[in-house]
Amino acid sequence: MPIYAVTGASGQLGRLAVLELLSRGVPGSDVVAVVRTPGKAADLAGRGVQVREADYSRPSSLVVALADVDRLLLVSSSEPDRRVIHHTNVIEGARSTGTSRIVYTSMLNADATTNPLAEEHQDTERALRGAGIPFTLLRNGWYTENYTGQLDEYLRRGEILGAAGSGRISAATRRDYARAAVTALLQDEPGNRSYELGGPAFDLSELARVISEVTSTAVVYRDLSVGEYKSSLRQAGLDQGSAEFVAALDVSIAHGDLATDSQDLARLLGRPATPLAEVVRTATQRTTIH
Ligand SMILES: NC(=O)c1ccc[n+]([C@@H]2O[C@H](COP(=O)([O-])OP(=O)(O)OC[C@H]3O[C@@H](n4cnc5c(N)ncnc54)[C@H](OP(=O)(O)O)[C@@H]3O)[C@@H](O)[C@H]2O)c1
Repeated sequence: MPIYAVTGASGQLGRLAVLELLSRGVPGSDVVAVVRTPGKAADLAGRGVQVREADYSRPSSLVVALADVDRLLLVSSSEPDRRVIHHTNVIEGARSTGTSRIVYTSMLNADATTNPLAEEHQDTERALRGAGIPFTLLRNGWYTENYTGQLDEYLRRGEILGAAGSGRISAATRRDYARAAVTALLQDEPGNRSYELGGPAFDLSELARVISEVTSTAVVYRDLSVGEYKSSLRQAGLDQGSAEFVAALDVSIAHGDLATDSQDLARLLGRPATPLAEVVRTATQRTTIH
């Protein structure tokens, strides 16, 4: 049986991928959870998963953690501006230990996007092409939770603020991306593969409409100019750099960078992505406002 490893396994997506591997019948002893802080993965160890400590910034720790690993799910690092070196360290570690496939969580439409987060994913894809290890690119769209995580705020204000215009967003839940990632990890693929992954597209007006319907609370989308949106983010407490970054993400959405017609996600899931109304309904169970 191959040994499967998942990096970022103490994080939200990585943890879901480890649990998905177990639920597909892979024995815990064949699953390696690569984590920076083993204490955060004690529950996974309790389920028989091999928890190994490694830091993306410490190449020697990666070489030890990836020993005997056949297939690796490289969950992209959460440290902006450090991602390329982090990912390159993991790829080098995998090469030195003879890993046979790397499955990497990249960004939707990475070939042609204005998204400010894209460059680090493009550089990582380049590093994978140069490494000579067969790879699978999971070009993930936005997490729906990027929005439903703000549900309390939307309901309190009665509005969603943004500068995304009618830009469409093919978002999906972390759970769906994790399930798709595990399918890609488990299946035997010849050569390299690339998947464009996203759920059914919505724009922020549709998101507001679905939230209104599900919660019976009126929420509208207020589309602002980029300048107005930056000011509102500053008033909400963001520093100038963060406000510019968040506004740039909406500009990218307005360009259509986070939309896709690809059915790759549904194919990997073996079913349609979780509908937006269902994701919102689940999120309402965690909100403090009803
Ligand atoms: N598609 C989207 O909408 C979207 C949104 C946000 C992020 N992302 C990307 O998707 C990735 C996974 O998302 P997520 O929600 O699971 O993020 P997350 O919950 O923040 O998890 C990030 C994981 O990366 C680990 N990590 C960070 N720096 C590390 C280092 N130097 N060495 C080893 N591990 C390190 C963290 O370990 P610790 O637990 O020790 O901190 C954590 O396990 C993110 O890292 C980011 O690249 C995508």
